[in-house]
Amino acid sequence: MSLKDKVLSELLLSSGEYCSGRQLAEKFGVSRTAVWKAIDHLKAQGCKIDAVTNKGYLLKEIPDIYNQKYMELLLEGTGFQVQHFTEIDSTNKQAKMLAGQHAPSRTVVTADRQTAGRGRMGKSFHSPTGGLYMSVIVRPDLPLTATMSITACTAAAVHEALKKFGIITQIKWVNDLFLHGRKICGILSEGSFNAELLKMDYLVIGIGINLHPDPHLPEELKTIVTDIETETGKHINRCQLLAEILKQMQKYFSEMPERTYLKIYEENSCTLGHKVRTDTGITGTATGFTEEAGLIIKLPDGTETILSTGSAEILK
Ligand code: BTN
Repeated sequence: MSLKDKVLSELLLSSGEYCSGRQLAEKFGVSRTAVWKAIDHLKAQGCKIDAVTNKGYLLKEIPDIYNQKYMELLLEGTGFQVQHFTEIDSTNKQAKMLAGQHAPSRTVVTADRQTAGRGRMGKSFHSPTGGLYMSVIVRPDLPLTATMSITACTAAAVHEALKKFGIITQIKWVNDLFLHGRKICGILSEGSFNAELLKMDYLVIGIGINLHPDPHLPEELKTIVTDIETETGKHINRCQLLAEILKQMQKYFSEMPERTYLKIYEENSCTLGHKVRTDTGITGTATGFTEEAGLIIKLPDGTETILSTGSAEILK
């Protein structure tokens, strides 16, 4: 870890107390000038730090910077282990590689940006700096047919995590979260299955959330996606959000047999009650969800069909 990151973790962990420059220098075996330079570097990255003679340094606002020690503190006792990358092609790809090498359930891969982020249906997922990109390895003792419920359960968990930060999203079937009519989060589950037992071997659940505006947002995405800061003015710390998402996933996954996530999923759905067109060309009205989070569509002739995979566009 760089001196800057070590100093940041001390400031984050000092819970509102000033950290003396002398003590920081002694702790890390560097000069006070080096500490001062690290503080300057952190300020340049947007950290608001109060410096008072004879008292030291105090972090005035928790910045949105990933810090491993802070992350570990937030996840203490949960069993989640985070591997963070500044840049990676895809956290899902990395997590699948680790899962194939027997990484345990609750291994999490995160990145500041992805160069080849993966979306659903073979699409790419634009992943510049300013987003939260995470992939969680789970090894549930569930049949293949449960994949859809797990994705839906994750959408409900992310919805609940964001609610803790005062952000109320809407869930678009099956796995997108919307804010003020535009997408802020996508979820992609990929896995490996045991063909003999017809069970999941592992599942990698990838979540991408737009936290901050992207000055280079491609033209074709401008009317479709948005970010939390633009819509709410909020600066959420990604370590705190990541920890909250993992805790909510743990809660709703453990309640899978009771399907508690379905209530959240239904109450916050922006698909229900609307006319939809599926990717296979079926048009009808979304009237409900099955127990496995399949979409029930009422067709113009009054009959019903259930969509268990694919996507459904909401028609205006
Ligand atoms: C979608 O909206 O189509 C799903 C997008 C999923 C994106 C996330 S970002 C973290 C993880 N790594 C990836 O390559 N994709 C998922």
